[in-house]
Amino acid sequence: MAKRIEFAVHGGPEVLQYVDYTPRDPAPNEILVSNITIGINYIDTYVRSGLYPPPHLPSGLGTEAAGIVEKVGSGVTHINVGDRVVYAQAPLGAYSEYHCVPADKVAKLPNAISYEQAGSSFLKGLTVYYLFHLTYRVKPGEIILFHAAAGGVGRIACQWAKALGVKLIGTVGSAEKAAQAMQDGAWATINYREENIAQRVLELTDGEKVNVVYDSVGKATWLDSLDCIKPHGLMVSFGNSSGAVIGVDLGILNQKGGLFVTRPSLGHYINTKQLLQHAANELFSMVASGAINVNVAVEQQFRLKEAVRAHQALESRSTTGSSLLIP
Ligand SMILES: NC(=O)c1ccc[n+]([C@@H]2O[C@H](COP(=O)([O-])OP(=O)(O)OC[C@H]3O[C@@H](n4cnc5c(N)ncnc54)[C@H](OP(=O)(O)O)[C@@H]3O)[C@@H](O)[C@H]2O)c1
Repeated sequence: MAKRIEFAVHGGPEVLQYVDYTPRDPAPNEILVSNITIGINYIDTYVRSGLYPPPHLPSGLGTEAAGIVEKVGSGVTHINVGDRVVYAQAPLGAYSEYHCVPADKVAKLPNAISYEQAGSSFLKGLTVYYLFHLTYRVKPGEIILFHAAAGGVGRIACQWAKALGVKLIGTVGSAEKAAQAMQDGAWATINYREENIAQRVLELTDGEKVNVVYDSVGKATWLDSLDCIKPHGLMVSFGNSSGAVIGVDLGILNQKGGLFVTRPSLGHYINTKQLLQHAANELFSMVASGAINVNVAVEQQFRLKEAVRAHQALESRSTTGSSLLIP
């Protein structure tokens, strides 16, 4: 018997249960991973709440972890038992001691990358990679707006933008988070609980606004974000932390300057083994060189059985950077 997190009904963090289960053997082209660190991502809260319903209930939760390969299914040639690996695009159920994952969704860990670094950065780092290189190619010297800049994805974005010479304006929910974003390499911050986002962006860009806004906050920032974009610029709406953006009148894009909008996800961009390896290599070299620091605060490292508390912390906006579950 092993332990994992399951939920049988949708709801708040309290629906998460720590239960016994029997890990299955890997099917052809799968591997079984003994998880050492498990990534906590905001998307896990959408699956739990029912915003992104799982295929069935009861359901496991989580798609990201780092660990050691325990068993290898038939047909897998590039991964062996005992390899150190990380994955971010597994079927639901990574909040567990052992999890079966398609072998082409797994990257081997270089010696320079620890399980803690991998589990806390893989999903979020691959996301920043595709947002900055594939959805819209950011350019050195360019000013961009990135919401929730002190969150898990946000901290990596601040550091990656700095490494690329991009001037990132980061929105944050407190003075402490503003200080963190600046330490991570943001060019400027806006505390959106106290300041007017569009007004501050106008001031910071000498009235020009930005070519691109990366908005994972969703409902609460949608209109403000559109007001920050130059004519024909791009709104990248990639999350719903404050609620989903629904019922949009397309005329608003015309009124705000013929804007473009995209609603991407990791699976749309990192969708082959080759792309996964390439993006992983880019991320690992950033982390190994120290350009991106993904260390997790002690108070944000939770035992697997504390998943309820971990979700409460994430949704109360009290976390900074990434959080981990440890089996
Ligand atoms: N589309 C994709 O491919 C993709 C991939 C990964 C992540 N995402 C999205 O990126 C976002 C960040 O993910 P993450 O795991 O790194 O989470 P996170 O940023 O660590 O946590 C969410 C943050 O959003 C901010 N926020 C603003 N309004 C909020 C509200 N009403 N309730 C809760 N939080 C609010 C909070 O920061 P402040 O206190 O500073 O406001 C909070 O810390 C999520 O929306 C996630 O869904 C999308």
